[in-house]
Amino acid sequence: MHPPILAIDTSCDETAVAVTQGNLILSNVVASQVELHKPYGGVFPTVAKLAHRENLPAASKLALKRAGITPSELAAVAVTQGPGLAPALEVGIEFAKQLAKEWDKPLIAVNHVEGHLLSVLARPRPKTSLPATPEMEAELPFPILGVIVSGKHNDFVRINGLGQYQLLGSTIDDAAGEALDKVGRMLDLGYPAGPVIEEFAKRGNARAIEFPLPMTTSGDFNVSFSGMKTFARNKIEALSGEASLSSQTIYDFCASFQRAVIRAILYKLNKILQTESFGEVWLGGGVAANTALRSELRAMLKPYGLKLKVPYTKKLCGDNAAMIGIVAGYKLHRGEVANPSDLDRRPRWNLNELSAVAGTE
Ligand code: KG4
Ligand code: ZN
Repeated sequence: MHPPILAIDTSCDETAVAVTQGNLILSNVVASQVELHKPYGGVFPTVAKLAHRENLPAASKLALKRAGITPSELAAVAVTQGPGLAPALEVGIEFAKQLAKEWDKPLIAVNHVEGHLLSVLARPRPKTSLPATPEMEAELPFPILGVIVSGKHNDFVRINGLGQYQLLGSTIDDAAGEALDKVGRMLDLGYPAGPVIEEFAKRGNARAIEFPLPMTTSGDFNVSFSGMKTFARNKIEALSGEASLSSQTIYDFCASFQRAVIRAILYKLNKILQTESFGEVWLGGGVAANTALRSELRAMLKPYGLKLKVPYTKKLCGDNAAMIGIVAGYKLHRGEVANPSDLDRRPRWNLNELSAVAGTE
């Protein structure tokens, strides 16, 4: 039996609280701040901090209510320790510490990227009340290739076991979602631009503009999007001249840029697969909601005989606390409980450093 965990994530612009039991999601509350940050064209840290502080009490009450769980039934309180925006992380950690103290529960500190990695394991709550049994490690085909593409992260990870990760490659500048958002801003598509670019791309010609393929000679598994972004800015300037861009030109631009971003990711994934063998590939993060990325990645994996796993609902691609609760379930099982008195935010917390966690006993 795996008792329920209340999990909190305030790493960026979503105030997220969930109740999970093993891999089952009993409730998953996400109070989005997208509207608040729209005027800034990105996430404004002070605004995020204040909004988290305001939203957390109601979001946790709602998460418990939807789960039908009382605090006394919880096994632990879990919280994202990092990576993320320092002021935003701080609010979630303070709140989690308070709850753990008030309810007299252990506190579990979770890495946000590990949350995205394990989001494919999430299962919806069954209609009949079955006890939650997480898949055992032995049943998972390790090593697994984890691919995280979001607004902040762009990581290729070898998952040797749950809690055992090795970063194979990352971005040397922007994450894919960040690049989509920045180019979307150049085109006045609003924030976040990723979903808009996906929609517009469906109406455009992906071969209209040939973007350069980056990092082909770097000899590593890292990606970079800054060259593509500069290319995009110059191209938009050249195309617009005196007049504004036509709708069709914008659609073609979106289709071509989306193709370029996907190609850059797949190019490096292909290199990784030519070097190492994996049992499965897991995709997570906000950009994992992109249908073109999913289908092109599936097609690329076919010759390798590899299956692609994605979260069961697109809501789990973006930031949420259910994924934090799932990681916390495994950590609790392994006895990895944090010491509240020295648990502090870790705004930059690389998956390779998971074993040396400050504030974990
Ligand atoms: O995982 P997430 O919610 O936050 C981070 O941890 O960064 O990811 C947000 C990112 C944004 O950059 C957004 O533009 C992108 O995910 N995104 C998409 C799609 N939906 C969200 N990008 C491409 N296609 C989508 N359908
Ligand atoms: Zn995230």
